[in-house]
Formats: sequence, structure tokens, C-alpha cells
Amino acid sequence: MTVLLTGVGELTTNDPDLGRLRDAAVVFDERSILWVGPADRAPAADTMVDVAGRAVLPGWVDAHTHLVFQGSRAAEFEARMAGRRYSAGGIGQTVAATRAASERELRAHATRLRREAELQGTTFLETKTGYGLDIDTERRCAQVAAAVADRVTYLGAHVVPAGSDRREYVDLVTGPMLQAVRPYVHAVDVFCEEGAFSVEESREVLQAGADAGLDLHVHGNQLGPSGGVGLAVEMGALSVDHCNHLDDRDIDSIAASNTIAVFLPACDLSTREPFGPARRILDAGGAVALASNCNPGSSFTTSMPFCVATAVLQMQLTVEQAVFAATRGGALALGAASSSPAGTIAVGARPDLQVLDAPSVAHLAYRPGVPMTWAVWRAGRQVVE
Ligand code: NIG
Repeated sequence: MTVLLTGVGELTTNDPDLGRLRDAAVVFDERSILWVGPADRAPAADTMVDVAGRAVLPGWVDAHTHLVFQGSRAAEFEARMAGRRYSAGGIGQTVAATRAASERELRAHATRLRREAELQGTTFLETKTGYGLDIDTERRCAQVAAAVADRVTYLGAHVVPAGSDRREYVDLVTGPMLQAVRPYVHAVDVFCEEGAFSVEESREVLQAGADAGLDLHVHGNQLGPSGGVGLAVEMGALSVDHCNHLDDRDIDSIAASNTIAVFLPACDLSTREPFGPARRILDAGGAVALASNCNPGSSFTTSMPFCVATAVLQMQLTVEQAVFAATRGGALALGAASSSPAGTIAVGARPDLQVLDAPSVAHLAYRPGVPMTWAVWRAGRQVVE
């Protein structure tokens, strides 16, 4: 079943050869994008949708979320807004609620959040474990994550759970817990930060993941200069996420590497950490992504449009840079940018597209906070109409 999207006022392709097209059309089926070009030369298809001058772009690729959890931390948020600083300390509260939840409850909650994201244009999404922190709950969380997300990341190394010995916990994370989640996950992550894991402990966690054939991600330099960036680059991680506190050396080393710096502007607002230097990394020749970091503690939003608007209005990204970072940038950060690539509209790419109820992507930041998702196709299937 082929679909022709025509009457596209502005088409953001993220393809270096195609660029941004006007008066364009796209043809796709359930497997891939089949044709992209001027509307007046479009081939026929089984179904035609005229978007009447609206903007079309790839669906958002949300490269960093924590959707598998139970419980609210609204009180912690409120205390933070009254002046308390964010720390990893609140994670324990979510761990307790998550351990007490059944797989069915976790799945229902994560599915609701995934759908909330989809309604705002997210078509490809990563999610992490990390609120179980014992073998059974991490396995349960990994199973749920595999059912709701396109990419699953093992974050047993989120914090050392209360009452555990640090050394024994790192051995658990790199040994039996890793074996238990391995069938469900694509990547390993570690929270490399004061109050979580040191650089040396983080290196052990990443090495164990690499030995198990997993891709690598690092939560780094969120609350201070944690050394996470240097470690991520040293280990060839796909991404280093947060990046609030970077010095010139960090910026240069990211720019000279294949590691993508993932920025999480909604988290920065909710934790009152300074925005990271995304624009400086781009200017130095590096690559960046934007993600929601949806989680109950530091960033309880699924809204990629909000992240894009914030990156433009507060982080000095151009509209084009922010949209690229939230689509193709996310795909690069997840290693999902090569075969049947996500985050791009070109022949052979994954048929993930969104239509804005606006004539251009500039409206995402020009009219911040205004719902703009008009239609969404995920893997060629219309999920928002
Ligand atoms: O990405 N930084 C570590 N993990 C999450 C927050 C976890 C929490 O506070 O529940 C994050 O911000």
C-alpha cells in the first residue's frame, strides 16, 4: 500500500543532496520512502494525502528517555523550584516504586508515555532500564522497554542502590545483571557523576557492555566536570548525554570524535542546571542531538517540540540545527542512521514522517508551546490523523 503526501509547502529532508524543498511530495510504503521530489512530478500511489502547504519533516528521534518506572516525584520537583539543588538522591524513591510494580503496570505506564510522545511527532525512541537495580526488576524493566521502544539501553549503573556495597554492585551490574537483560537490550549506559559512578567504575561498566556486544552511551558532565565526556570519547561511545559542564578540551574532543553530544534542554530547565554548549560543539565541527530525557525526576516531559523550541530560544541553535539535532542527530546518537535510516526523508529511509499545522519548521520556535502536530506516520502507518 503506497501513500503519496503532496502539497508539501516545505519539506525538511535532512538529506545533504536534497536539502529543504518547496512544493514537494513524498511517496512511501510500510517499508521505506520510495520517492521524494517536486509535487508536479510525483508518481501515482494507492492513497493520496494533500497537506495543503503545510511543513513536513522526519518524525522526532528521541534518543534519551527513561519511560519504565512507577511513582511520582512532583514533591521533589516542587522543592527544587523552591531552591533545593537536583541530585541523584531521588532516584531511590522511583526504584522503590518500580520494584513494587508488576510488569503489567510498568508496561501500561510506559505505553501511555510512548503514545503521548507519538501524539507530538516522536516516531523513533530509545528508553532505558535503571529504576530496578536488582536482577529481577532490571530484567522486567528491560522486557517492558523492549515492548515499547525502538532501542533499549541497560542502565543498571544508574546509582548504587541503598544498602549495597559499591564493589559488589559494580560486579553485579557487569556480571549476572548484564547477562539477565542482554536478550532485550542494544546498548549499555552509565551515570558517570559524583553521587553515582566514578570514571574508573564507569569504564568497567562500559567495557563489560562492549564485551557483550552492546553499543555504549554515557550520562556525563551533568552536575559538574565528571570526566564522562573524556571517557565516552576514549571508549568510542555512540553518545555522551547531558553535557552541561564542558571545558574547551571536552568540546574539542567531542568535535574530533564520532561521539554525539546529546543535549536535554527540558532537563536543564527542570534541574536549573546551565544549558550545555551545543552551539559551540557545532561551530567546532561536532555533532549534537536533542532529546527529552523523559523521567520522573529530572525531566518529566515527552515533548520534543518543547525541546526544539527551547534549544532555539535559549541555546542559540538555529531552527535548522535544532530540527536536525532532534531527528537525524538522534538517529546518529542511537546508531540508527545507516541501514533504513531514521531521521531523514530520502529514498530507502524509514517511513517516519510528521506534518506540522504550520507552513514551516520555524513555527516550532516562533510559536512555542502551541500544539502543531497535524499528522504522523510511523513505519509507514498513520498513527496521528
Ligand atoms: O538522565 N541523570 C541520571 N538519570 C536521569 C534522572 C534520574 C532521576 O532523577 O530519576 C537523567 O536525568
